[in-house]
Amino acid sequence: MLNMAPSYRKTQSIARKYDATADTHYDVRYSEGQFEKYRSLLDAVAGTLPPVPGTTIVDSGCGSGLLLPFLSQNGVIRGKCFVGLDISGGMLARAMIKAGHRPGTCFIRATVDLLPLRDGVASDVFSVSTFQNLDTKQQGQYFKETRRVMQGYDATFFFGFLDKPPLSDDVDKILQDLKHFFKNVVVIEKNPRIEDRLFVCKDP
Ligand SMILES: C[S@@+](CC[C@H](N)C(=O)[O-])C[C@H]1O[C@@H](n2cnc3c(N)ncnc32)[C@H](O)[C@@H]1O
Repeated sequence: MLNMAPSYRKTQSIARKYDATADTHYDVRYSEGQFEKYRSLLDAVAGTLPPVPGTTIVDSGCGSGLLLPFLSQNGVIRGKCFVGLDISGGMLARAMIKAGHRPGTCFIRATVDLLPLRDGVASDVFSVSTFQNLDTKQQGQYFKETRRVMQGYDATFFFGFLDKPPLSDDVDKILQDLKHFFKNVVVIEKNPRIEDRLFVCKDP
């Protein structure tokens, strides 16, 4: 049972919803689609990340942990630590099973707008298909928190949200918010097969 402040009522009910569907159903239904989003995001940085061992990739709203094996299979996480955060204990349990005993990996139950991480700990942050679950107040705080945990100029934020109303009507405003926190924001061209709007953000 999650015990959160009353202002997090929406997040609590989302956690319950994902807890209820966290069995294999999520992976069977969504994994191919999520992989396509990750591929598209990585393609925007030529399919790779700087090979700096010991740095930390954060997956903010990691769900059932599809990203970690994807990055491993594509050889872009070698020697790096990985932290997955999610509000759903059920989803985190599945993510932990997938990760097995990979060294330098941990999962935390937390809300993405209040990250229990030190400033500048992340070399890269991925956050795919989670933003649409946040209310307006959380959205601003989420960008601020994401920026806070990213290291200096070399970190990249790989971001996607489900392109459905009301957010699909708000893309320009979201882009402005991203530009407030990152100097360099690449908008990935919309692909009809991909349900998310995708962005790659850096602060070079
Ligand atoms: C559609 S799933 C996407 C999961 C994963 N990023 C992926 O690519 O498969 C959305 C996830 O966001 C999580 N989530 C929703 N609101 C959250 C919040 N405020 N903080 C942390 N996780 C949240 C849900 O529990 C769920 O696991």
